[in-house]
Amino acid sequence: MQDTKIIQFASDNYVGAHPDIAAILMTSLESIEIPYGSDTYSKLAKEEFQKQFKQDCEVFFVGTGTAANVVALKSILRSYEGVICSDIAHINTAEGGALENFIGAKIFTAPSHASDGKLTLSSLKQVFQNFRNIHFNKPRAVSITQSTELGTVYTCEEIKEICDFAHANGLIVHMDGARIANAAAYLKKTFKEMVVDTGVDILSFGATKNGAIMAEAIVVFNKDLIKDMLYIQKQSMQLFSKMRFIPAQFIPYFKNNLWLKNAANANEKAYYIAEELKSTKLYKILNKVETNQIFIELPINLKDDLAKNYLFYITQENFEKNICSIRIITSYNTSEADAQKLISDFKQAEYNFLLSQSF
Ligand SMILES: Cc1ncc(COP(=O)(O)O)c(C=O)c1O
Repeated sequence: MQDTKIIQFASDNYVGAHPDIAAILMTSLESIEIPYGSDTYSKLAKEEFQKQFKQDCEVFFVGTGTAANVVALKSILRSYEGVICSDIAHINTAEGGALENFIGAKIFTAPSHASDGKLTLSSLKQVFQNFRNIHFNKPRAVSITQSTELGTVYTCEEIKEICDFAHANGLIVHMDGARIANAAAYLKKTFKEMVVDTGVDILSFGATKNGAIMAEAIVVFNKDLIKDMLYIQKQSMQLFSKMRFIPAQFIPYFKNNLWLKNAANANEKAYYIAEELKSTKLYKILNKVETNQIFIELPINLKDDLAKNYLFYITQENFEKNICSIRIITSYNTSEADAQKLISDFKQAEYNFLLSQSF
């Protein structure tokens, strides 16, 4: 159990789950259900997805974001093929080689845009053009993360441009939507506008980081990819016997507009914190704060002081320059008081630090 004196801003994975999610889980405990995804909750949740995406999409429920990405991409890639993504894409940097292990395919990385972490159309084209002949893995898919690993958001136009290029060149588009709700809340767009209308073929739709519990889904819009999906899901150990507990969570998530309330809260708290810290001398906000992630540069010694009371990720340390970068993530249940406390503690720590430097 975490020390209660330490205040957590390390990740939206640290928090528990929304009471509406807990309530539906309690209800779903009571019924007798057909196992392996043929339960009533799976059926109802699929209908909710179809309403959101206004499409006859197919939905497969899985337990982690990594599983969603790997199972989704396994429906596209053979081992002699490859997926193009940004160099900071989660599938490339933080999934323990799951894709390489389960699929055997190659990940082609394209330099992400320095300030926003996005895969740009020009870097995508560049990587695609490097493919020449049978001696290379064959590019077959593009994967983009919405919102990105730097908390920024692709506009619908940017997504469409990538999809158009991909489709014109025989590539399938996958979106890693581990934090898709935060992106939709920022853009003020529906999931349909952001995903279906732009041409995405297959989506990893995450809810865990936005107030649910191990609830992720693969949403398939391109019917060619559905054919073997159940076999892939089973072989990837993601076809759970008591599946109902995953789909059940998506019912209040969509019906009560929980996805939007939760994501909007997380985003707004991040905007508030970033805005307040911008006016300080020593905290430099490194990213465009569009969703719930804030990357901050600060002196290393100041970070050490903050770390006594706050949990955050250290993303970089430069001992020569004595500076480092930290990542703060707000969550579906970050309160106004939590945000205010962080701001005033960070400002106080800065003041103490400056004072200590003046002697
Ligand atoms: C962008 C992104 N994709 C995928 C994942 C994977 O989720 P999980 O840790 O549930 O496998 C994460 C987790 O942090 C993530 O940030």
